[in-house]
Amino acid sequence: MSTLKKVYIETVGCQMNVLDSELVIGALRKQGYDLTHTASEADVILFNTCSVREHAEEKTYSSLGRVIPYKKWNPDLVVGVIGCMAQKDQHQIRDRAPYVDMIVGTGQLAKIPALVEEVKRTRQPQFALSLGRTDGGRDVVESSFESYDPTRDPTMRATPFQAFVRIQIGCDKFCTYCVVPSTRGPEQSRHPDHLLAEVRLLVDQGCKEVTLIGQTVNSYFYDHGDGRRTRLSDLLSKMHDTVGLERIKFVTNYPRDMTDDLLDAVRELPKVCKYLHVPVQSGCDDVLKRMKRNYTADYYRDMLARCREKVPGVAVSSDFIVGFCGETEESFQKTMDLVHESKFKNSFIFKYSERPGTKAMDRYPDDIPEDVKKRRNNDLLFVQNANCLVDHRAKIGQTLEVLVEGLSRHGERSDGLIKQYTGRAMTDHIVVFEGTDRLIGQTLQVHIDNASGFTLFGTVLTTETSGSTGQPIPMPRAATSRIGLKLV
Ligand code: 5AD
Ligand code: SF4
Repeated sequence: MSTLKKVYIETVGCQMNVLDSELVIGALRKQGYDLTHTASEADVILFNTCSVREHAEEKTYSSLGRVIPYKKWNPDLVVGVIGCMAQKDQHQIRDRAPYVDMIVGTGQLAKIPALVEEVKRTRQPQFALSLGRTDGGRDVVESSFESYDPTRDPTMRATPFQAFVRIQIGCDKFCTYCVVPSTRGPEQSRHPDHLLAEVRLLVDQGCKEVTLIGQTVNSYFYDHGDGRRTRLSDLLSKMHDTVGLERIKFVTNYPRDMTDDLLDAVRELPKVCKYLHVPVQSGCDDVLKRMKRNYTADYYRDMLARCREKVPGVAVSSDFIVGFCGETEESFQKTMDLVHESKFKNSFIFKYSERPGTKAMDRYPDDIPEDVKKRRNNDLLFVQNANCLVDHRAKIGQTLEVLVEGLSRHGERSDGLIKQYTGRAMTDHIVVFEGTDRLIGQTLQVHIDNASGFTLFGTVLTTETSGSTGQPIPMPRAATSRIGLKLV
């Protein structure tokens, strides 16, 4: 009879949340829990939440409603809400879902294993929240948002050869529409030595690619207190020396902190992906001002030109918010023009969602009707998709180095004979090609034969020999001829 207790987790939101869930589950496993994908058989059910848009919050409330019957069947069940919503809305959660046993904010995740045991012992609800930004001096508030990055558990990641590494927590930019500075607290950069040790460990566990994450990752700055300072460019060059590591990415960048030393590092360090995600949010100066982004559209244009000049071939992607307070047709047209001319690799487009507690909600009415937001979203997407197609078609005939991530979404033909796999190029472009399971986790040379607006389609040429295995992967002969694989 299995004595392992089971934990089920649902995660919404950004890469920070994906990483937090990995770490929380890793900690609970050490405490004797096993992960289950079936909520009804769990002893502990956790919701790792996002507050960036209202839609994400409503999704969590509807998921919470679904656990009511489980609570009835199993009175010992522990239900926890963790992450951004927990930090921001503990009272609302208790009102709308009074059966929740545990509410744990982003800066308190280390306490989860102990809190689960406390709920079981006392059957009393448990709460662990960080301080509000104005609840004390900077040091006290900072320490209530401790960085939660315990030893990594490779079994918890989507793939064993890719991992997120949090280099910075919190945000100090205070864009008027955004809840993150309050849900994730003050900006703090982690000690470079800890990060290098974490990456070394990940590589020892089989990791080939790390994605360094931070809300404004390029603002990373560690002051050692003895005159030494580490910028993101310094961190990248130190991390680059990690033997066995093949790729380093970093997201998300803030336009004003895209310094030349960083761009030089991206160009000079071969393991650093030639890909920059730099959200602009709007192409209209009036809107940018109300958003308090601290730059103009022309500043962003100059920054983009500098990225492309310093890092030839770099792919740049962006985020946009449409329908922000007071966005006229004229201001929206400026955003359309910016997208049209900027040739982003891709854009993430969001309809403005008014968030309680933000400056925008206090200062400006959410005055753009939903149908107008939707239309602007579609219009912007249309321009972006046209640019994607042009960008992708220009890659036909090129050979790209691709890290194979796994089976593509519609990867298996009904007869099971030919399988399609997906991977990413150094510019973050998605590449789909035929292969076998043995290619997963390998870095391959792929010739691009065709392209759609979303995907590049290619043929595997050779396996990369500079990877950690250093060996081409043997392929069955039939498969070799079928996918046109040329072994060298
Ligand atoms: N409404 C809509 N989108 C938002 N974002 C952040 N806050 C909001 C909001 N209130 C978007 C921004 C950011 C991305 C992660 O989410 O574009 O870059
Ligand atoms: Fe939010 Fe602005 Fe910080 Fe990004 S930079 S997390 S949008 S406040």
